[in-house]
Amino acid sequence: MMKATQLAEGVWWVGAIDWNLRDYHGYTLPGTTYNAYLVVGTEKTVLIDTCYPGFEEQVLCRVASVVDPKTIDAIVANHIEVDHSGGLPKMARMLPGVPIYCTEIAVKGLGRHYDTQDWNLQVVKTGDTLALGNKTLTFLEAPMLHWPDSMFTYLAEDEILFPNDAFGQHIASSERFDDELGKDASLSHAQKFFANLIIPLAPKVLKKLDQVGGLGIGISMIAPSHGVIWRSHAGDILQAYTDWSKGVSKEKVTIVYDTMHGSTDRMAQALADGAMDGGLEVKVCLLRDGRYEGCHRSDIVTEMLDSKAILIGSPTLEDEVLPTVAGFLSYLRGLSPGLLAQKKIGFAFGSHGGHGGAVKQIGESMQKAGIEVLGDGYEVTFRPDADEREACYRAGLALAE
Ligand code: FEO
Repeated sequence: MMKATQLAEGVWWVGAIDWNLRDYHGYTLPGTTYNAYLVVGTEKTVLIDTCYPGFEEQVLCRVASVVDPKTIDAIVANHIEVDHSGGLPKMARMLPGVPIYCTEIAVKGLGRHYDTQDWNLQVVKTGDTLALGNKTLTFLEAPMLHWPDSMFTYLAEDEILFPNDAFGQHIASSERFDDELGKDASLSHAQKFFANLIIPLAPKVLKKLDQVGGLGIGISMIAPSHGVIWRSHAGDILQAYTDWSKGVSKEKVTIVYDTMHGSTDRMAQALADGAMDGGLEVKVCLLRDGRYEGCHRSDIVTEMLDSKAILIGSPTLEDEVLPTVAGFLSYLRGLSPGLLAQKKIGFAFGSHGGHGGAVKQIGESMQKAGIEVLGDGYEVTFRPDADEREACYRAGLALAE
């Protein structure tokens, strides 16, 4: 039988592990977890969040290793996205009339996803509490972190914050805690999660972190809805969210491109050589539709998050940017890295065998994403000759300077 994992006295992880998920709306991942938590008070037992549809048995089995699932007195739905609310229909059938606490917007959203006519939905607002006897849950609305319905739940007695998606990581593992998976690996998975889901919300993250800080509450543990629980490094993930939202970067450049016959590739290599010789950390990503290890768009934006600059290259194909690069640019515009407090620097490059145009389009696209683009970029005809490769090398070197 599956077992729950204890976080504190009367507080348990009762989530589900999805070992096989590899693509989540365009984000590549090594599986994930749908974290649900059981809080057993002296008077009431509450389930916080559920799971993706089809994973209810895992949650129920883990609950059953602590208490009879039929004794659950209430459910908290921090977020309506289906990876956390998908278990609600089964729970509502199993526990007729069970109160489900959520925000006002969540009530509307749940009604669109499920037949909630018979559900006992209870609207809560920031500051509302739910007494469980010796424990009390406090709710904190968190609109647009990352959906309008989102909220955090705080357990004061154990100083545990349940922020749903915020501070999460997509990883399926046997480890439940940050100190078991390791600090670096935990932060690295959290960085990918932030880069692909949270960048456009960076200003709201900073506001919310200020608001939570202003409450003067202790946070000993952060228990998100995906990945490991921050037990030993709660302060580190809070600091990382602050830094990522501010756009704090390393002396690092990410070079992204695709190539038809190797000309744009030669330019990318020369840019990388220049940047490296200038002392920068360099990541080079050949797009190829993400078929190369570490070069999927979701990996590239993760590299970009802590880079000072992003250089994007493409040859011109039929007056357009190559489709692989165009797809990446579309993803980048959606993420809006310009919303990070500190802007990224951008540079466009490429080659053509006719009258070109891709470099201009890349520059315009980067500007729309809020990136500060340097000049008009650099476009060469046919193959870059020795002087042109030298110009690329010097452009890479100049970035470091
Ligand atoms: Fe917004 Fe993990 O769902």
